[in-house]
Amino acid sequence: MTRLLHVVGARPNFMKVAPLLRAPSPHPVEHILVHTGQHYDAAMSDAFFRDLGLPAPDVNLGIGSASHAVQTGRMMAELEPVFDRYAPDWIVVYGDVNSTLAAALVAAKKALKVAHVEAGVRSFDRSMPEEVNRVLTDQLADICLTPGASADRNLRREGVPDDRIRAVGNVMVDTLLALRPSAAKLQVPERMGVGSGDYAVATFHRAGNVDDAATLSELLAGMSHVAGTMPVLFLVHPRTRQRIKDFGLERRATGVRLLDPVGYLETIGLVERAALVLTDSGGLQVETTILGVPCLTARPNTEWTETVESGTNRLVPPSLEAIKSAFADVRRQDRAVAAPPRPPLWDGRAAERIVALLA
Ligand code: UD1
Repeated sequence: MTRLLHVVGARPNFMKVAPLLRAPSPHPVEHILVHTGQHYDAAMSDAFFRDLGLPAPDVNLGIGSASHAVQTGRMMAELEPVFDRYAPDWIVVYGDVNSTLAAALVAAKKALKVAHVEAGVRSFDRSMPEEVNRVLTDQLADICLTPGASADRNLRREGVPDDRIRAVGNVMVDTLLALRPSAAKLQVPERMGVGSGDYAVATFHRAGNVDDAATLSELLAGMSHVAGTMPVLFLVHPRTRQRIKDFGLERRATGVRLLDPVGYLETIGLVERAALVLTDSGGLQVETTILGVPCLTARPNTEWTETVESGTNRLVPPSLEAIKSAFADVRRQDRAVAAPPRPPLWDGRAAERIVALLA
């Protein structure tokens, strides 16, 4: 029996662990699920556990929000006795959030084996906390489980030896393909009173965009411009909502519908039939590529270069003028690419490959 201890903490982790817990395995596997509690709001955590059919975590550390140093340090201190108690064969960590690095660091110091899911993905922008988390986690991991060839190349360039790299595919795609039919059944656009193919979905939460008043103001003005043509449903992360209030920017979002974040199924149900997604999320860049929905990503770089190559995603500077011009381009096309070519290994079976490898 192989014991896998999965550490998750923030919203983008939950859809990545879900397919591993369900994956068939050639050998018996026991799963232990540990939630650091980095995200704790019902909309940021509980809704995802419910939508993804995740079991209640075996352990919830309830760490919550704090500065990066305090949050990461608290996680490390609390994870150590949990790893001692369960003595797993593998610690499995996901993506690039603070919970990922905290768990990898504790495990490495205790000489426990670490598997990193979504390894090798790089924006090459060290000003992003996520990039720091990724680079360090990959150095610590015993096995780097990557979404594909470009991530493999990034790891080799950083000196990670070939025997620690395994291309397994994209676990976010596993979840999306499995839950797309359930998401469609919810008829979310109808319930939100918007016409199919005639609205935009927006999400912004990156520190680089929302912690700066001038940048956030431009993004709101950009959404407001789009709202002059079609309804804009802005799913507002708690951090972003706080910043809009702190900076007094409520009036810059004229015409935009400011909504609370929604769960996984509602998000996918909305995105699938949107005319456009405006975002700085990593996950939505991947999901719009699979769903063939045009996506404007307000960032100077992306760790998901495949999404730009597939023709659905486009990087735009976070300014009103840039959004106006990119929106005009999207309007000239119909839908970006109805059935974009799917990158190799983004086939819905990544989790199966991972579990087979670890078991
Ligand atoms: C984290 C991840 C980011 C990911 C994002 C998805 C890191 C470094 N960043 O950013 O990569 O894209 O999650 O959401 O790990 N807050 C709440 N309730 C919550 C969670 C957060 O109110 O349930 C508010 C708090 O004010 C908190 C702030 O959001 O201080 C930031 O939360 P934090 O977990 O530090 O980072 P995110 O911005 O969510």
